[in-house]
Parts: sequence; structure tokens; C-alpha cells
Amino acid sequence: MNILFIGDIFGNPGRKMVANHLADLASSRAVDLVIANGENAAGGFGITPRLVQELLGAGIEVITGGNHIWDRKEILEFFPKEPRLLRPANYPAAIGEGVYKGVSKGGVEYAVMNLQGRVFMANTDCPFRAADRLLEALPASCKIRIVDLHAEATSEKVAMGWYLDSRVTAVLGTHTHVPTADERVLPKGTAYITDVGMTGPYDSVIGVNKEAIIQRFLTQIPARFDAAENDARLAAVLIEADVETGRATRIERIQVRGD
Ligand code: FE2
Repeated sequence: MNILFIGDIFGNPGRKMVANHLADLASSRAVDLVIANGENAAGGFGITPRLVQELLGAGIEVITGGNHIWDRKEILEFFPKEPRLLRPANYPAAIGEGVYKGVSKGGVEYAVMNLQGRVFMANTDCPFRAADRLLEALPASCKIRIVDLHAEATSEKVAMGWYLDSRVTAVLGTHTHVPTADERVLPKGTAYITDVGMTGPYDSVIGVNKEAIIQRFLTQIPARFDAAENDARLAAVLIEADVETGRATRIERIQVRGD
């Protein structure tokens, strides 16, 4: 089974890359399941119900979130209507879910879990214990298990990879918007990468207009952060998994550049 995970879709440039390239990528790589982090799909901050529908319509089956998932207030009441939109499971919030259980087009049962790190991030419940609870609640018949760990610190993400090795198909990092070159299949069969990277404008500071961010660093005065536009790229990983065991056999980093 081939699973494509698309890193943080940022603003209009990110959504355009999905609209223009996902179908080709999915057919050329024989992809069975597409998952994407979409918490920055709306102008770089949050996601709206309309954009959830747009991304699901483009062929993404499950959308994961993170610290920005709450940015647009209309999303709060939309959560109960769309189980394929996730928020980190270890948020104390009672809105939305942190896990989605589905069946792929090829008839394979799968689960997508969303967690958020605690190092240099908001105070949430422990993501490691949250992972234990989510996994305990999954039926044994569900072998394909994908975790999006939305986190800042590389150490916390690497630790989660080792913690879940053998228990899930993949632990994939999001949030920093910077792709890392450490993709590998861990010894007990879990595919791992510290950060998939951003699907959005790379002529920027992690998606935002670079001049505004540089000024902020120079002056420490808060400024308006607008989404950048140029050098759009789609960042993703392709995971090949054995449906009988749920183990990953291969992980490949993918970057598609826009025109
Ligand atoms: Fe984030």
C-alpha cells in the first residue's frame, strides 16, 4: 500500500500546488491513501470549512491539524460535521477528534492520529501517553496506523519515533515548515521523518513575507504577517507499507516545484 503524506499546506500557494500536482503525483506513484496537514491552509493561519471541503475534493482523505487549527472560529462548529478533519488528540479541548478510522479505496482499514509536541509549544496533555491511549483503543484489525506529530523540537519528534517503533506504520513530523533529510524506516518497521516540510511559498520565512519577519527580529515590534507568494513547492513523503503487518517497507521524501 502506498500512502502519501503532504506537509503543512500554507495559504493559497500551498493549496494551488495541491490542486495542480496532487492528481498526477497520486496516479504516477499508485497512491492508495492521501493525508495532509492543513492547519495553515487559510492565508497561513487556520483552516475554514470551505477549504476543508476544497482539500477533501482534491483527493486528500484526512486533514490533520496543530496549534493553528483553532485560528478561524467558524471551524469550531464545523468539527462535529467532518470527522476527516483532525485536531491534536492531546489538546484538552472537547471539540473535534484526534483520530480518524477509515477504509482506503483498496479496502484496507487505516487510522490517522494527530498529536502535538510540548517543547516550545502550548501546554497540552502528554503526547506520548495520548499515543498509548489512542493505540489501545484501535482494533487489532487496523494495521495501517499513521501519526502526524505536530511539534517544534527535533528531540521530541525523534523520541516519539522510537517510542512508537513497531506500534505504528509511520511517525511523521509537521509544524516547522522546514523539511528534514532524516527519513528512514526504524528497525521495527515504523517509517519516520522529523519534518515533512511545508507545501507553500519558499520565498519566505516559513511561509510568511520575509521582510516583515526580518523587521520583527530587528526591532522586536509586532507586525502584520502576510502569507508570501513565490517559489511554491509541494513537500510530501511517500510510505510503502505491508498491509498484512502494518509495517513500513520504504519512505521517500518528495518535493515538487511549481512553475
Ligand atoms: Fe503549526
